[in-house]
Amino acid sequence: MPKSTVSTSKYRARWIVAIVLLALLAWLGWSLKGPAQVPVVALDSRMPADFIWGVSSSAFQSEGGNVDSNWNRYNDSHPEQDRYGRAVDFRHRYRDDIALAHDLGINTYRIGISWARIEPQKGRFDDAELAYYDDLMLALKQAGIAPLITLDHFAYPGWVADQGGWKNPQTVADFVAYTRLVAQRYHADAHLWITFNEAAFLMPGEISVQKLGVRDSLAMRDHLTQAHRQAYDVIHQFDANAVVTSNIVWMGDHFGDGLMRGLTNWMFLNGIEDKCDVIAIDYYASDVFQAMRAGAHWKWKPDPAGLYRALKILKSEYPDKPLLIAETGMATENGKPREDGVKREDVLRDSIYWTQRARADGVNVIGYMVWSLTDNFEWGSYTPRFGLYTVDALGDPSLARVPTAAVPAYRRIIGDGGVGNDYRPVLPQ
Ligand code: BGC
Repeated sequence: MPKSTVSTSKYRARWIVAIVLLALLAWLGWSLKGPAQVPVVALDSRMPADFIWGVSSSAFQSEGGNVDSNWNRYNDSHPEQDRYGRAVDFRHRYRDDIALAHDLGINTYRIGISWARIEPQKGRFDDAELAYYDDLMLALKQAGIAPLITLDHFAYPGWVADQGGWKNPQTVADFVAYTRLVAQRYHADAHLWITFNEAAFLMPGEISVQKLGVRDSLAMRDHLTQAHRQAYDVIHQFDANAVVTSNIVWMGDHFGDGLMRGLTNWMFLNGIEDKCDVIAIDYYASDVFQAMRAGAHWKWKPDPAGLYRALKILKSEYPDKPLLIAETGMATENGKPREDGVKREDVLRDSIYWTQRARADGVNVIGYMVWSLTDNFEWGSYTPRFGLYTVDALGDPSLARVPTAAVPAYRRIIGDGGVGNDYRPVLPQ
């Protein structure tokens, strides 16, 4: 090769390296700066009449009682956790809680069915516990509230744990049999269904508790995917118009979050996307690394504008699917004012503003469900309090439901079909 050609190609290579480095630095700088601000503009529309206004809960976290489930066992063998006990005794106070929900004006209540409660031994269904769920459905109907049923919210029967949980292919058939029973019994009551709550989060728990190696972990992932796919079909056999999904947790849109989203989608959503009638998200934070660094739930930084960005991103990724906010909320430490001064009622109003904005910008968001109506057992602790109504589960034997300032705020929002045209978000972006 002539000398001049060698030096030209060296020169060119250096330029390419320099441009790539500059581009990387620009990307890094842009990413570290965080997502771009969204202009605040006046709203010109409210939510439609069929918008889903709801509250969300899960069976294990609120029902209480000594049921043989993986989670009861986990709590029994972890004395450093708060004792689960009666939780907030939803098992017996559901009619009172439904009255509170009715008083808010919601039209949808996300409740969980406890597989462990209704099938305490393999193949033996408990009539008394089924009667409880029958009455729960009736109470909701009488209150004019539609249920959204979650079939699995991290908890399953002890006998499923004994057979190896989700690493065992038999658990797929057992889950589908349980789904068939529930769908047959409640398809006339419930139109909205969630198979697995946050499956991508269920998996790490399963890996650590069941001590799964790589091969079993991959098998578990396949089994959960098969279980969702089959449960989806079973529910549709009973109600062709049912809306079935599995909610995902929003992994944020700050630096590096795209990778986390990709990973969690790979774990579950990608394998079931064609069998999700809506994309349902649980939104708690837009900067997941901040939340992880902060640790305590009450230190996660609320970012209502991040919900808008999340909805826009999801719309671009799933343009044909409606979106449902299946859980969103904010925690305090035992009900104390937060160190950052953020108030639940402000987060609520701001989040509704940004949801309305997303709808105005063409995003088909069909519902907004607050986590949660009452405080509940936060997977080992009663200290994080997410409830619209606060409950001192450890200190108050009467388990009184005490309204927070977010109760009148949510009631007003629902009554008005959203926040008004003159509303401007309070929290900074
Ligand atoms: C879970 C809930 C939990 C909430 C707050 C969600 O990811 O589905 O069970 O209580 O987060 O931590």
